[in-house]
Amino acid sequence: MHLPDFKVARSSDKKDYKKINYQIDSKYLNKYKGKKCFLKTYGCQMNEHDSENIKGILELLGYTFTNEMQEADLVLLNTCSIRENAHNKAFGLLGRAKHLKETKKELVIGLCGCMAQEEIIVKTIMEKYSFVNFIIGTHNFYELPEILSKTDKEKQQIEVYSREKDLIEQLPVDRNSKYKAYVNIIFGCDKFCTYCIVPYTRGRQRSREKEDIIKEVEDLIKQGYMEVTLLGQNVNAYGKDLYDNYSLAELLEDIAKTNIPRIRFMTSHPWDFNDKMIEVIAKYPNIMPSIHLPVQSGSNRILKLMGRRYTKEEYLTLFHKMKELIPNCTISTDIIVGFPNETKEDFNETLKLVEECKYDNAFTFIYSPRVGTPASKLEDNISKEEKEERLYKLNELVNKYFKENNDKLVGKIVPVLVEGISDKKNEYFGYSDTNKLINFKGDNVKLGSIVNVLIKEAKTWSLDGEIYN
Ligand code: 5AD
Ligand code: SF4
Repeated sequence: MHLPDFKVARSSDKKDYKKINYQIDSKYLNKYKGKKCFLKTYGCQMNEHDSENIKGILELLGYTFTNEMQEADLVLLNTCSIRENAHNKAFGLLGRAKHLKETKKELVIGLCGCMAQEEIIVKTIMEKYSFVNFIIGTHNFYELPEILSKTDKEKQQIEVYSREKDLIEQLPVDRNSKYKAYVNIIFGCDKFCTYCIVPYTRGRQRSREKEDIIKEVEDLIKQGYMEVTLLGQNVNAYGKDLYDNYSLAELLEDIAKTNIPRIRFMTSHPWDFNDKMIEVIAKYPNIMPSIHLPVQSGSNRILKLMGRRYTKEEYLTLFHKMKELIPNCTISTDIIVGFPNETKEDFNETLKLVEECKYDNAFTFIYSPRVGTPASKLEDNISKEEKEERLYKLNELVNKYFKENNDKLVGKIVPVLVEGISDKKNEYFGYSDTNKLINFKGDNVKLGSIVNVLIKEAKTWSLDGEIYN
């Protein structure tokens, strides 16, 4: 048994991790042939991609997948810790799984992902959720075959490492899309923003070797993939732990040269964004002009309390540089309202910043205290009603700019990667280079191709158009 420990997770010593190529012990192959798994994923793209790897591993074991929990022999939750509602959803599903297990005794229930890394969650599950067969952490989920093979012998297995173990290459993968692929470039985060649990659940920053990343992209091209999204909690820190003179800028350039039609990357921390990165994004047409640049707050006082390491002025300088140097660039953001001690004036500063940036997309949240983070020790001194009112006001403003920006595209022709057919006849959907959802009319359009679409109508969160030949 290995239990998570936030003190260890918080430590900043560099671990000596090894790079290992994943190999499954042949005794596990097809061991569970005929069994079905219900896999539920919560949270960010990193978690979604982990689930693609988990699927790949379980398929080697012989599992197939079902969307109906009642049909499952294994219920596996890949969980998120970022806000309290992510916890609540997972516990809700565990409740349903418990109910099912009352009539289906042999049902195996497991929990992995970020919640598995939290001391308080693991303690609760040990005390009150004895029906959960295993908890496996973010750093060792690839040990699922070993864990599953022991479920009939052990009561409740807990295998969570507080800090990163080895860096595993060549994990099996079953991707959700045939056209767009996630590619990890860096794991973990060293920023320790005061509200954020990620450095505790995902460990210290560690980059994959550039050769492994480029090889993965080249393989994806051979399989017909049209787009890669380079993933990391902070992609702009790529390479810092591995190389002296090779950063995200050089990596983006090397990937652009593979000629994959579309490259995206997320998430960026403004602190690590440098001019060379902007130059490279501007130079290569296959690096999409769409950047996610979380600001979190427009008040310098709150940014300081959040430990964000930049001022509003520095953020705005970077923002405008991107807009100026990257043709046609759209920028999206994340914003938190109701951080402890946020006054009405602080909040108004956030509104002012939004008025200046006129974001193309924004994810807005009410601050949620996370046990173990420094901010959770600050007095949460704003009422629920006040926080909700601030969120409402902010959403009204960001929505106004989404629509205004979309209105500007009416009458324009935009390139769209066609991802699917909608319910309506002869209607397709996909994303533009600037990451806007486009619904459009057309005849016999090939899925996975990039087509030109003439925009006819703008909505707040999407655009309507028709194919333009
Ligand atoms: N409360 C609310 N929102 C949070 N985020 C991260 N931690 C918290 C928290 N404790 C938001 C940030 C981040 C996004 C992924 O989630 O805006 O950029
Ligand atoms: Fe949630 Fe963060 Fe974990 Fe992603 S990394 S699943 S957002 S807690």
